Amino acid sequence: MNMIFDGCDTTLLAKKYGTPLYIISQSTINERIESIQQNFLKKYPNTKAVYASKAFLPMAMCKIIQRGGLGLDVVSGGELYIALKSGFDPKMIEFNGNNKNYKELELAIKNDVGRIIVDNLLEIKWIEELSNKYNKKTYILFRIVPDIETDTHDYISTGHKSSKFGITLENNFFFNTFEQVMKSNNINIKGIHFHIGSQLHDNKSHLNATRKTLHLIKDIKMKYGYDIEELNIGGGFGIKYTDEDPVKPIEYFIDPIMNLIDSFCLDHRLERPMIITEPGRWIIGEAGMTLYTIGSIKENGQTKYAAIDGGMTDNIRPSLYQAKYAACLANKIDQSPDEIITLSGKFCESSDILIKDIKLPKIATGDLLAVYATGAYTYSMASNYNGQPIPPVVLVNKGQDHLIVKGQTYDDLIINNLIPKYLEV
Ligand code: LLP
Repeated sequence: MNMIFDGCDTTLLAKKYGTPLYIISQSTINERIESIQQNFLKKYPNTKAVYASKAFLPMAMCKIIQRGGLGLDVVSGGELYIALKSGFDPKMIEFNGNNKNYKELELAIKNDVGRIIVDNLLEIKWIEELSNKYNKKTYILFRIVPDIETDTHDYISTGHKSSKFGITLENNFFFNTFEQVMKSNNINIKGIHFHIGSQLHDNKSHLNATRKTLHLIKDIKMKYGYDIEELNIGGGFGIKYTDEDPVKPIEYFIDPIMNLIDSFCLDHRLERPMIITEPGRWIIGEAGMTLYTIGSIKENGQTKYAAIDGGMTDNIRPSLYQAKYAACLANKIDQSPDEIITLSGKFCESSDILIKDIKLPKIATGDLLAVYATGAYTYSMASNYNGQPIPPVVLVNKGQDHLIVKGQTYDDLIINNLIPKYLEV
C-alpha cells in the first residue's frame, strides 16, 4: 500500500517528478493559517501575523501567505526581491536582519516596505540617509536583546545576553539610541521587537521576554511620554518532528502572552500596543515531506545502513543541529516495522546521516522513503555541495499537484561559471 499525502499518491509523485522531491501540502498550510486567524487575529483586536519567510520562500508561498491575510518577514535583499516579484504588498512586509547593507535598505525604502526592524547604529545612519534621499517616512521597530535563556539548540537560541542579534539593554545603550532616533524627521519609531529562539516547546521564555519588554515600554512612556504602538514577539513556536516532540496548539503560546500584556497595560495605564508575531516553522514545517529513493544497503560494524539519494544538501538540519526526523517507507505503509536501520545521506561528510536507528519494514533498494515535517529550513537551506542539484518543490492540494520550483539541472551548476581566456588553451 502506498502513502497518500494531501490526496496524492506519493509513489506517483516520485515517478512523475523524480527523487529527491520536496512536497508541500497546501491544505496543512491553510489549516495553520486558519488557526492563526481564529486563535490570534480574530480573537484579539489590534494584532498582526507575519510569516517568517526564511523558513520556505518560493513565490507560490508568498501568494498563499498573502491570500491568508498574513504579512511577510524578510531578512535579506534576496528574500525581499522574491516577495516583491511575487506581487506581495510591500506595506505588509517587515525587514529583519542583523547586518542589512546599504543596497538592501535602499531596495526596502524605495519600495515602501511596511516596517524595518532595526538592529544597530550603522543601519540607523543609512535609514536616515536613504529616507532623506527618497523623501520617505520610514517606520521602524527596535529589535532588543531581551537577555532570556531558552530551552533549545544553542545554534537557534537568539535572545541571550551575548546574542549577535539586536540592541542591548545594558549601559543605557538602548535609551541613547532611542533618543537619537526620536530626533529624526523621517524615521518614525513604531515599536519594539524581540525574537528569542526557535523550536520552543515551552511558553516560559516568550513570557519572560514579553514581561521584560513591557517594562521597557512603560519606561519609555515614563521617560519620554512616548507611546510604543507595536510589540513584535517574534516566532519560534515549536512543532512535532518525532513522537518525542509535544504537540502544542498556537493558543498555548498566544493566550498567556496576550493575558500578560492586557493585565500589564491595565495595571500601568498603558494603551495596549498592536501585537505582532512572526511564526515560520509553525506554518510550514509540518506541511512538508521529502521523498527519497533507497540506494545501497550495507552493514558496517554494528550499523546497518540504507543510503538515500539526497541528504545534507536538501536537509542540513540533522548535520547542523542534530535534528531528529520521523520517516516511513511510502511504498510499504501497510507493512509493520521489523528492522532497525540508519539512513545515510549520499554526501562526503560523516555527519550526513538523515536518521539514526529508525525502525522500518524490511527495506530494499528502490523503496521510497518519506520523511515527515520537512517544510521548514530544508529547501531554504539547500546547497549544491558535491555538485548536487537542488530538488524540485511540488505543491499538493486535495489530490492535485503543481510544480512550484523546478529542480536544478547539471547545467544550472555551471551557469555562473566563467573560464578566463588564458586557461582555455
Ligand atoms: N523572527 C525572527 C526575527 C527570526 O530570526 C526567526 C527565525 C523567526 C521569526 C522564525 O522562527 P520560527 O518560527 O521559524 O522558529 N535554521 C534553523 C532555524 C533558524 C531560525 C532563525 N530565525 C532551523 O532549521 O531550526
